[in-house]
Amino acid sequence: MKTQVCIIGGGPSGLLLSQLLHLKGIDTILLEKHSREYVLGRIRAGVLEHGFTELMREAECGDRMDAEGELHDGFEIVDNGIQHRVDLHKYTGASVMVYGQTEVTRDLYEARDRMQGKVIHNVEDVALHNLKAATPPYVTYRDSSGAQRIDCDFVIGADGFHGPSRKAIPRDVLREYEKVYPFGWLGVLSRTKPVNPELIYARNDRGFALCSMRSQVLSRYYIQVPLSDKAEDWSDAAFWAELKARLPQDVAARLETGPSIEKSIAPLRSFVAEPMRYGNLFLAGDAAHIVPPTGARGLNSAGSDIHYLYHGLIDHYLNGDDTGLNEYSAKALARVWKAQRFSWWMTSLLHSFPDTSEYDRHLQSTEMEYLFSSDAAQASLAENYVGLPF
Ligand code: FAD
Ligand code: DHB
Repeated sequence: MKTQVCIIGGGPSGLLLSQLLHLKGIDTILLEKHSREYVLGRIRAGVLEHGFTELMREAECGDRMDAEGELHDGFEIVDNGIQHRVDLHKYTGASVMVYGQTEVTRDLYEARDRMQGKVIHNVEDVALHNLKAATPPYVTYRDSSGAQRIDCDFVIGADGFHGPSRKAIPRDVLREYEKVYPFGWLGVLSRTKPVNPELIYARNDRGFALCSMRSQVLSRYYIQVPLSDKAEDWSDAAFWAELKARLPQDVAARLETGPSIEKSIAPLRSFVAEPMRYGNLFLAGDAAHIVPPTGARGLNSAGSDIHYLYHGLIDHYLNGDDTGLNEYSAKALARVWKAQRFSWWMTSLLHSFPDTSEYDRHLQSTEMEYLFSSDAAQASLAENYVGLPF
C-alpha cells in the first residue's frame, strides 16, 4: 500500500490529524493496535481547552460536542474544607468545554467512517523503517491476512506512551526527561448527577480528590491513592466513603452515589522526549510527552502538537514550504514544557506527598493562601488552565 502520511495510533491525536489532513486532500492511512470498542472503552480526559474545540470544529467534528458538551466559566478549589472559586472567564475571557475524550474519539471515528478514511484496527508488530534514509520511509505490520507494508512520505507516531514510534529514534539522539509521582488516581464513573455544577479540585490531609463529570447524568470522580493500591480492592462503598471524607461536609451531604460503571487507577507521571522529529518521523501527543492529569493538559497538549503538525504538513503539500515541519519539534516542545510546568505546579499544590517535612506542608498551605489573596496568581492559574495560545 502507498499513502502520503502513515499515522500510527488511533487515539485522539492520530484520528484528529488524519481527519484534518483528509479535508485538505492529503491521503493518510491510520494503524491502530486495538479494536475500536477497546479504544472507546478507555475513560480518560474530560476537559477541553478552546484551541482543541476549534480543531474539532475545523475537522468537521464539532456538532455533537457543541450540542452536548458543557462550557464551564470556572471551577472550585477546596483547601481542607474551605471553598474558593477560580473564575476562568473573569481572568481570561475564555471557558473550557467539558466533553469526554471517549466522545471526542467516537466523533472522530464516525467522521473517518463517513469520509471512507483508511483506519486499520488490530494491527500487530508495527515497525518503522528508513526514517532518515535517502529513500522514503515505510511501515510494516501484520494483520489477519499476514505481513503488510505501507510506503509513505512521512510517519506520524501518535501511538501513546507505550507505542513503537518513540522507540524507533536512536538512543543517542533521543533525550528523555521523567518524574514519577509516588501515588495514582483511582477514578470512578457513575450514572449519577454531578455533585456540583462546576469541577471541584480538593486538597485534603487524607489526599487529593476531584469531582468531575461527563454530563448531567454521568459523573467522574477521582481520589489520590498509594501506588500499591489495586482498583479491585476498592469496593464502591469504600470509594464513596473516602471521597466524602475529602470533601466539605455540605458537598459530601449532597453527593449522589451509585454503582461504578468503570473503576481504574492511573499512576501519575511527567515525561518529555526530545526531539519530537527524527528524519521523516514526527511524534505527537502521549508518544512524546505525559503529564499528571491534575491540570487537564494531556489531551490538550496532544491537540497543540496536532495543530502545529497539521499546519506544517499543509504548508509542505499545498505550498511547497517546509518551514513549519522544520520548526515543529521546537515549537511543539516550547508549549509542551509550559504544560509540564503547570501540571507539576497544580499537582504539587493539591496532593499529599508521603514523607514531606513540616516545612513543605507549610509552603503548600502558603502557596494556596497566596493564590486566593492575589488576582495575579489566579490570573496565572486561569490562563494556563484554559490553555496558552498555540
Ligand atoms: P492515546 O490516547 O494513548 O492513543 C494512542 C493510540 O495508539 C492508542 O489507541 C493505542 O492503542 C495505539 N497504539 C499503541 N501502540 C500501538 C502500536 N504498536 N501500533 C498501533 N497503534 C498503537 N488530558 C486532558 O487534556 N484533560 C483531562 O482532563 C485528562 N484527564 C485524564 C485522566 C486520566 C485518568 C488519564 C489516564 C489521562 C487523562 N488525560 C487528560 C490525558 C489524555 O487522556 C491523553 O493525553 C490522550 O489520550 C493522548 O492522546 P494520544 O492520541 O496522543 O494517545
Ligand atoms: C478530568 C480529569 C482531569 O485530569 C482533570 O484535571 C479534570 C477532569 C476528568 O476526567 O473529568
